[in-house]
Amino acid sequence: MEALECIKTRRSVRRYTDEPISDEQIMQIIDYAKLAPTWKNTQTLSYIVVRDKEVISKIKEECLLGFEHNVKTLDKCHTLVLLVQKNGICGYEKDGSFSTSKGTGWEMFDAGIAAMTFCLAAHEMGIGSCIQGVFDDSKVAQIIGLEEGKTVAALIPIGKPKFEPDPTPRKDTAELIKFI
Ligand SMILES: Cc1cc2nc3c(=O)[nH]c(=O)nc-3n(C[C@H](O)[C@H](O)[C@H](O)COP(=O)(O)O)c2cc1C
Repeated sequence: MEALECIKTRRSVRRYTDEPISDEQIMQIIDYAKLAPTWKNTQTLSYIVVRDKEVISKIKEECLLGFEHNVKTLDKCHTLVLLVQKNGICGYEKDGSFSTSKGTGWEMFDAGIAAMTFCLAAHEMGIGSCIQGVFDDSKVAQIIGLEEGKTVAALIPIGKPKFEPDPTPRKDTAELIKFI
């Protein structure tokens, strides 16, 4: 698939078939996701792949802040990827001070680029994904026993799409640009 076609046809996929996603397929997606640019090439993101039904169910029941939309997605999901950020490096100077006025913002910036790269690579391989931001990251961290100094930046359920979702609306490009 051409890059532009991949960008154009990607959708947030929230319903999946039962077809399993193999370790090799996930490794391949991450092989591409790791090519995402990062702050000073710090590469502070990593991926935890949750296949344990009980763990997915616990996250579904305890961590989704009552957001039914996400509950329904995890209810049908067999593979949940946790995008994990190692804190205190991206956006920081070596002495521990912030490099810019955006403070910790660059950590989520890098996580966002990685998430999108992950989703595009998955889409190219016929695998659907949805970035989920509505969740309690400290509860997820507790459930999976995440080590100190790391944060779950996003949940990304994945699977073969049950159907192709309709495209969602976008603003007119002219509204988004200002030439100066
Ligand atoms: C940072 C971020 C957080 C998001 N959080 C959620 C979420 O919690 N639940 C969900 O179903 N979709 C979530 N989405 C997906 C958006 O709703 C979706 O990208 C948007 O509606 C456009 O649809 P599309 O991805 O199919 O083009 C999130 C997307 C981003 C980038």
